[in-house]
Formats: sequence, structure tokens, C-alpha cells
Amino acid sequence: MATPIPIIFLLKFLLYAALLLCNRGLAFQGREIALLSPTLHNVNITSLMPSSVCSPSPKGDDKRASLEVIHKHGPCSKLSQDKASSPSHTQMLDQDESRVNSLRSRLAKNPADQGNLNGSKATLPSKSGITIGTSNYVVTVGLGTPKRDLTLVFDTGSDLTWTQCQPCTCYKQQEPIFNPSMSTSYTSISCTSSTCPELQSANNHPPACSASSCVYSLLYGDKSYSVGVFAQDKLALTSTDVFNNFLFGCGQNNSGLFGSTAGLLGLGRSTLSIVSQTAQNYGKVFSYCLPSTSSSTGYLTFGSGGGTSKAVKYTPFLMNSKNPSFYFLNLIAISVGGNKLSTPASVFSTAGTFIDSGTVISRLPPTAYSDLRAAFQQQMSKYPKAAPASILDTCYNFSQYDTVDVPKINLYFSDGAEMDLDPSGILYFFSKSQGCLAFAGNNDANDIAILGNVQQKTFDVVYDVAGGRIGFAPGGCK
Ligand SMILES: *[C@@H]1O[C@H](CO)[C@@H](O)[C@H](O)[C@H]1NC(C)=O
Ligand SMILES: *[C@@H]1O[C@H](CO)[C@@H](O)[C@H](O)[C@H]1NC(C)=O
Ligand SMILES: *[C@@H]1O[C@H](CO)[C@@H](O)[C@H](O)[C@H]1NC(C)=O
Ligand SMILES: *[C@@H]1O[C@H](CO)[C@@H](O)[C@H](O)[C@H]1NC(C)=O
Repeated sequence: MATPIPIIFLLKFLLYAALLLCNRGLAFQGREIALLSPTLHNVNITSLMPSSVCSPSPKGDDKRASLEVIHKHGPCSKLSQDKASSPSHTQMLDQDESRVNSLRSRLAKNPADQGNLNGSKATLPSKSGITIGTSNYVVTVGLGTPKRDLTLVFDTGSDLTWTQCQPCTCYKQQEPIFNPSMSTSYTSISCTSSTCPELQSANNHPPACSASSCVYSLLYGDKSYSVGVFAQDKLALTSTDVFNNFLFGCGQNNSGLFGSTAGLLGLGRSTLSIVSQTAQNYGKVFSYCLPSTSSSTGYLTFGSGGGTSKAVKYTPFLMNSKNPSFYFLNLIAISVGGNKLSTPASVFSTAGTFIDSGTVISRLPPTAYSDLRAAFQQQMSKYPKAAPASILDTCYNFSQYDTVDVPKINLYFSDGAEMDLDPSGILYFFSKSQGCLAFAGNNDANDIAILGNVQQKTFDVVYDVAGGRIGFAPGGCK
């Protein structure tokens, strides 16, 4: 008795149901309510704001070495439960601008001109503020024998891992400061060791020598620095993944706002980074997921072959011989609400783009940003505007709304890789009455663009350093 009309209905229904099952919005506990808009996210605003309780992402059954990634200032962090010591959003974004300025000065200058602590004469660029202090995500690793737990900011823009070491001129950290004399597996690198000169590639200026120990000095372009002994000790990433002679900086003179972390985990591309030092075990592959809000958790995983790897779409890393530590990639286009912007690819290629785990807000070439903003404003015109905030100039007052229709934003890379940004990568909320487009424009068309950590939220970001490529898969964490 089936007439053609019900069959069509049935087919439509089945198609709809199939599409519905594919819609990853469903997996995220109603965060995304819209059924199948190819161009819009209908977002529950509350779900984009961090809650005061930690709700960790579920752990997969992944057998690889995996560390939990936590936002330094969120409720999942053991570091700063004390609200007063956490920076405000505005302070955090101002710090973000300092980091970007400092990265730019590292990138622009010839290494020989860069800041160095030659005697007491430090030649630092005159930018004030805090740079790597804004690397907002931390992991906890174990160092020494017996093992001491240390919570470190992780940074794809740095190579050498370092921690504060006793005795020192140190900033305040939460965990006890690492004491090398209490670790039976600790040794310092001597000035005559062939390992000492490797520091040159990691921090772009020559090592020094003090009491026959090789001395590193990391200067982050502003007033943040770490100076100390180049050393090695046992590093435990997890209880089973332990590295006996891990090279790191034992920092005796450290300053800057590193939160109350114990130091920094360097995931850069050069020889001394943890990626290079563990190459035999993990084949220079690592991936991470940064959670959508600071009240959730993500992961940092070493090695390949994870659960989501099938959905990963890759784009090649570009070599940048002047800046071998950074991960450059080829951003070629952006779409807003399903429409590709007319920004010519040359606008992106003029300066180039690198991806950074420590920069919060992505920075785009001036033309690319103004094209993005114009399209976004047009599609958001029904919402009342709010005042700009720090480096964000396109803000809305959503106080009268429970949900908001946000145009999708997609980033396109060479070789077909694409990021369909999570809503948490499109709007940055200071409060319900001030939610802003989470991008900023560079002032100069020659300034390098940066793919920041807000835009990376919820993606499984796979760095296949040996394979010369980086990939993105949606739905890595929530
Ligand atoms: C939005 O999410 C919050 C918490 O996740 C929930 O309490 C609220 O009912 C949701 N609102 C809508 C309109 O779905
Ligand atoms: C450090 O100072 C010494 C002596 O003043 C000088 O010879 C050397 O070139 C300086 N090194 C750098 C990297 O500036
Ligand atoms: C550490 O910093 C202090 C104060 O800036 C300075 O006086 C001292 O010489 C530094 N020590 C080392 C080892 O760099
Ligand atoms: C947002 O809008 C509400 C109601 O329309 C108003 O009371 C409030 O002052 C506005 N807030 C801001 C920061 O613009």
C-alpha cells in the first residue's frame, strides 16, 4: 500500500536520522542544539562559560603515553585555587599581546642581535609584560630519583624544558622546588661536553660556563627569563614512560609570571625539545587537545596511533630556516557562515603563519582580519553590540539570550586540511554581556600570522614532526 509520498518521507527521515547521528554536536551533551545547519552553530551560551567545578573530559582507552592537560587558572588546576592571584580576562589578553610582540621580535631579528645575558648587560627588546606566562595550559611530569612531580606550562614555541632548581633566585611556585642534590640520577653537563653547544640551537645564543658547568640562558624578549645549569636527569612522563638522561635546564635565576608553575615543557621543533629527545620512542609524533573551557580537561599524548587518527586531515609544515623551532603551516583561506572570503591567498603567504600552543588569540594579516570581521558582523547583526575588550574589537551583548546563532568559521590549509572551528574557538566570553569574535588583526601586513590556542580548542591536533606534517581532527575533547 505504499504510495510514493510516504516513501519519500521515509527516505528523508532516514537521511535525516543518519545525518543527525553524524552530527558531533550530539556527542557534546546538548551544547550544540541546532540540528543540521551547515552554516551556523546554535550555541547555549552557558556552556561556553567555564563553570566553577571541574568536569574532566572522559579518558579514552588510549594505550599511548598521555598526560592530562589542564588550564592553569581553571577549577581543574591544583595551582591557583586562589582567585585573587588569577589574572582577569583582560589582563590575560594584554599578556597575550606581550607574548606575540616577544615572539615577533624573536622571529624578526637575527639570532645574534637577540637578548643575551652577557655579563650584566642584557639587551632585551623594550616590550614590557609577560610572555610565556600566558601559555595557559599545564601538564604534570615527574623528575629525578626519587621522582618529584612538577607542573609545567607546555609550549610549542620553545625547545628547552626547564624547571626551577634549588638553590635559586626563584619566583613563587606551588610545588616544592626541585632540589638536584636530592636526586641520585641528576648530573650537570660540563662545559667541555659535546652536548653543551647544542644549547645554541635551542635558545639561539651561546652557552656560558660557570664552575665548569654548562649554563643556559633563556630570555623571552621581555623581562621573563630563566638562567641556570644545563643538566640531565630521569624524566617520567607517565609511570611507564621514563627517560633516563633527559636534558633540561635547572633554573637558578628565574623571573616572570609563569603562574605558580614549576617551569616549562618545550615542545618545539629543534634538537633539545622533548619531541626530539624522545624521538626513538615516539617517532617525533605528539598530539594534544585543549578543552573548550577552563573547567574541562584535555590531553597531551606522545606517539602515533590514537583513536581519532582516522579523521585527521594533514597539511605540511613549512620549513623556516631562520626560525627552526617554530611550526609554520600554510593557511590559505577562511570561510564565514559557509562563504569563503575573497581574501587572496597571497595575503596569508606574504608573512606566513605558525601554530602556537601558548598564544591565546589567533592573529591574522590586517586584510584577512578585516574581511573576516566584516562577514562576521554582517551575520551577527541581530545582536546588540558591546564595547571592545583588550585586543578584541568585535563584541556583542548577549545578556538577553540563552542561545546564540554563531556563523561557522572554517580555516583552510594547503593539501585539504581544514578546521571547522568549535564555537569556543569563535567567541571569547568575558561575560554574558560581552562575547567577542576571538580573532585579532596584525597591524603590519608583513607580521607573521599565528594560529592561537583558542582556535585549536576541542581539536585533536597531531604534530607529525618526522613526517613533516600537522593534522586536525574535530572532537578530540570537550
Ligand atoms: C544551557 O546549558 C545549561 C548548562 O549546561 C543548562 O542548565 C541550560 O538549561 C541550557 N539552556 C538551554 C536553553 O538549553
Ligand atoms: C660576550 O662578551 C664578550 C666579552 O665582552 C664578547 O667577546 C662576546 O662576543 C659577547 N658575546 C655575545 C653573544 O654578545
Ligand atoms: C640572578 O639575578 C640577580 C638579580 O637580577 C643577579 O644579581 C644575579 O647575578 C643573577 N645570577 C645569575 C647566576 O645569573
Ligand atoms: C547589556 O544589555 C543589557 C540589557 O539590554 C543592559 O542592561 C546592560 O547594561 C548591557 N551590558 C553591557 C556591558 O553592554
